[in-house]
This record gives sequence, C-alpha cells and structure tokens, in this order.
Amino acid sequence: MQIHKNHPLKDYNTFGVEAKADFFVDVKSISDLKNILSDSKFKSLPKLLLGGGSNILLCSDFKGLAIHIDLRGIVDLGNGLISVQAGENWHDFVMWSLDQDFNGIENLSLIPGNVGAAPMQNIGAYGVELKEVFVELEAYHIASGDIHIFSKEACYFGYRESIFKNTHQGKYIIVSVTLQLQTNGAVNYSYGAISDVLSQKGIENPTPKQVSEAIISIRQSKLPDPNEIGNSGSFFKNPVISNSDFERIKKQSADVPFYPSSDGQVKIPAAWLIEKAGWKGKRVGNYGVHEKQALVLVNYGGAKGEDIYKLAQEIQSSVKEKFGVYLQMEVNIIH
Ligand code: EPU
Repeated sequence: MQIHKNHPLKDYNTFGVEAKADFFVDVKSISDLKNILSDSKFKSLPKLLLGGGSNILLCSDFKGLAIHIDLRGIVDLGNGLISVQAGENWHDFVMWSLDQDFNGIENLSLIPGNVGAAPMQNIGAYGVELKEVFVELEAYHIASGDIHIFSKEACYFGYRESIFKNTHQGKYIIVSVTLQLQTNGAVNYSYGAISDVLSQKGIENPTPKQVSEAIISIRQSKLPDPNEIGNSGSFFKNPVISNSDFERIKKQSADVPFYPSSDGQVKIPAAWLIEKAGWKGKRVGNYGVHEKQALVLVNYGGAKGEDIYKLAQEIQSSVKEKFGVYLQMEVNIIH
C-alpha cells in the first residue's frame, strides 16, 4: 500500500475542485484498511473517506489522510441476493444487474458515486429509494477494527438520510452492501417524466432496461455530466415544511409544486424555490447554478470549493428571505 504525499484530489471529487491532501492512500482490502487506520503515524490526523467523490465539496486542501475506498467485487448469492463491495461504481453495478436480467434498481440508473455511498444517504430517484431493495451492509468500525453488520432497520433510512449521517457519523466505513433484486419484479414507471418518455417511444409495457434507458435520457437532458461540468448532483435537499408554511407560500405563489409527506407535512422542490429566487442559470465567473436544474451547482473549471460554498450560503439566505424556508445542504462540506 503506497502512501502519497501532497496528493491532488481533482479526480476524486465530481465537482472537479483542485484541492490536495497531505497524505493519500488507495485501500483495496479490509486488511489495507486495518493497517492504515492502526498506523501510529496517521492516528492523530483527520481522515477523509473518498468513495466516488460525488457528494463532497472540498473547500480547502485537506490537512490529513485521504483514504480512497477501492474495495471491488460483486457476488451473486443466488435468488437475486447480491453482495457488492463499496468501491464498485453505482451506475456500472446497475448496468451489470440489468445485464443479468435482475430488476429493482433500474430507476437509480446514472446516479453518480460508488456503492458504499448509496446507503449513506439512501439514494433515490424517480420514485424509488435504495432502502426498497436493501437487505444489510457490512461496516468497518473504526474504533475497534471490527466488522459490524447493519440490517435495514438498524440503518434508520429516511429521505436522503441514514444512521451513518447522524449518530454514527465518522464512526464507520461501509465496506459492502447486500441487496435483494428481482428476476421478474414489477417495474415502476409512474413518475411523470418516465411515462412521458416511454409513451413518446410508443412503449406500453416497458422492460427494466427500457425504464433504465428512459431515465438515462431524462437525466442526461437536464443534469450536467460531471465528466464535462463539475457538479455533485442535487446540492440541497428538498425541504419538508409544515402545512401552515405551505399555505403561506401558496398565497405568495399559487403554482408551487408539492408532494405530500408524512405527518401532514409537505415536501416542496428546492429547485423551484431557488429558481423563483432568481438563481437558475446564474453564473459567477467559473461557477454557478446550472441552467437546466436549479438544484445543481456547477464548476465550469478551476473554481474554488470555498467560492461554491459561499454561493450555496447566498442561495440559502436568499431563499430564507423570500420564502422563510431553510434549505439544508445535501452535499458534505469539507473544510
Ligand atoms: N423545478 C424547478 N426548477 C428547476 C428544476 C425543477 O422549478 O430548475 C421543479 C419542477 O416543478 C419539478 C420539481 O422541481 O417538477 C422537481 O424536479 P425534479 O423532478 O428534477 O426533481 P428534484 O426534486 O429537483 C430529486 C432528487 C434528484 C433526483 C430527482 C428525480 C433530491 C434532493 N433530488 O430532484 O436526485 O434525480 O428528484 O427523482 O431529492 C441527487 O440527489 O443528487 C439527485 C439528482
């Protein structure tokens, strides 16, 4: 295992920010992980875990040890039960599952990032969330060096939430994930935009692959490809607000889109709030708000993480001022 000094992280964050880590290591096995975490030279240093780097914003050089989780492998345990190592690319895994004639995760096509990050924030898109196919995961407990198994219940999944973003934050490293896929399961294409694309193509009873293709074309049409324009997908979560706040906003703008949420609350699209506050497509030098999806902040090349973070904070205050709603950042800000 080679330790690199002063290592560039540009290729390890989809925002394409040019920050460096004092130390950097590629971890290819659990024993690599054990060795590096027990090494006295690095014990007291801050650690930065890197998966696909699709949900982080690096605001400065990282004064510590960056650990790239590069655990690979997919094991078919039979009857659609699949165990995947954390370092596999999520979208490649979705494509693999469709090639094996499994379904269940086709709606999660083209989500950037690696498998290990998927349970962290219970990734979701087009009416499906990871938790629907999730069985369990194995996580390395940093303090003890033991592997702990977390069932679905133990992960406390919520909307873009899990225990690993809350009480267990920084305590575990997800090393593998087991999912239950189907061989003949139902496909879910009720989400507006998917059924529109399918009916335009004249497809009535879509196969999982056709649903995946429709989703890929929708995502490509409005979300920037991180290989071309640096970004981290949705920068903010969609806020869940009280019914009275919703009524207040509706008086202000009758056209506010909404989705009913639990406990009589209402989820509204952050993208709509940001657009209405005048930010959509706004460009400040080499960074800005994407022109087709106001929820996505972009680095046109050479932007500093700190500047993108400042823009995010300005958006937060402007939306708060206009609508009285606080937008929570979905991306992890690394200072
Ligand atoms: N909208 C606007 N302006 C925009 C974009 C959208 O007003 O610039 C409004 C429209 O009314 C639209 C609504 O927002 O109907 C919802 O937009 P969209 O369907 O694009 O979804 P989203 O709520 O913005 C969420 C996820 C995405 C996921 C899509 C599709 C979050 C934070 N984001 O976005 O996930 O792909 O739904 O299911 O929940 C990600 O997390 O990185 C991500 C891309």
